This record gives sequence, C-alpha cells and structure tokens, in this order.
Amino acid sequence: MKLRSLAFCVAAAVSAQAAFAQAIDVAAMEKLAKDKNCATCHTVDKPGPFPNHKKIADKYRDKKDVVPMLVEKVMKGGSGSFGALPMPANAQVTKDEAEKLVRWMLSAK
Ligand code: HEC
Repeated sequence: MKLRSLAFCVAAAVSAQAAFAQAIDVAAMEKLAKDKNCATCHTVDKPGPFPNHKKIADKYRDKKDVVPMLVEKVMKGGSGSFGALPMPANAQVTKDEAEKLVRWMLSAK
C-alpha cells in the first residue's frame, strides 16, 4: 500500500514537471524566435504575407521526415512552398537552433 502511494506521488510529480517543462519551452522558443529574427516574419497564428506556424504545421502534418528538409530551407532560404515570396537565408541560426525552431513551429495546432 505504501509502495503504491509512493508510486502515485512519483507519477504525479513527473507529470507536473513535464507540464512545467513544456511551459518553459514555449517561452524559450518564443525568445529564440525573436532573438533569431524569425518572429519578424512568422507569428504563431496571425494572418499576414508570411506563412504562420499554423499554416506551416498544417502543410506538413501528414508528411514524414520533413524536419531535415525544413532545417536546410531555414538556413539557406528559398521560395515556392507557400508562394513566390522568398525566405532569406538565416545564417544567424545554428543547425541545432533551426531544428528546435522548426519542431516548435510544426507543433502548432
Ligand atoms: C524576411 C522574412 C522571414 C524571416 C526572417 C524568416 N522567414 Fe521563414 N519563411 C518566410 C517566407 C516568405 C516563407 C515561405 C517560403 C516559401 O514559400 O517557400 C517562409 C517559410 C518558412 C518555413 C516553411 C518552409 C517550407 O518550405 O515550407 C519554415 C519552417 C520557416 N520559414 C522557418 C523560419 C525560421 C525558423 C526562421 C528564423 C531562423 C525564419 N523562418 C525566418 C519568411 C521569413
């Protein structure tokens, strides 16, 4: 009995921590997107000339293995996925940062 309630406590603590970690992550990603200039063009869900996170997530929701391709696009720039408007190369991000940003954008619902 004691063991069971201990297990419950651990599970509750772990899930509370997971929820907390996720909350921190979003703030960290928002900051990174601002620091790296992505937020100048991309918003989470506001309309505008540039695809927002939701549109990007919708486009790739059912596709597999898109992260490496999108990381490369973020770093080198390009056009044609959403229209003629090009994304400039983002030489200010490392591959790691680009991957974090892409995964965050793709998580938009
Ligand atoms: C000057 C504006 C601008 C900035 C700054 C910018 N983007 Fe973009 N981004 C665009 C445009 C325009 C497109 C659409 C390109 C297309 O249609 O292929 C785009 C597309 C994307 C896509 C989808 C690419 C595809 O092929 O579907 C991702 C992911 C993305 N941007 C991430 C980022 C990240 C991460 C940053 C910051 C490091 C960033 N963008 C900075 C304008 C920008």
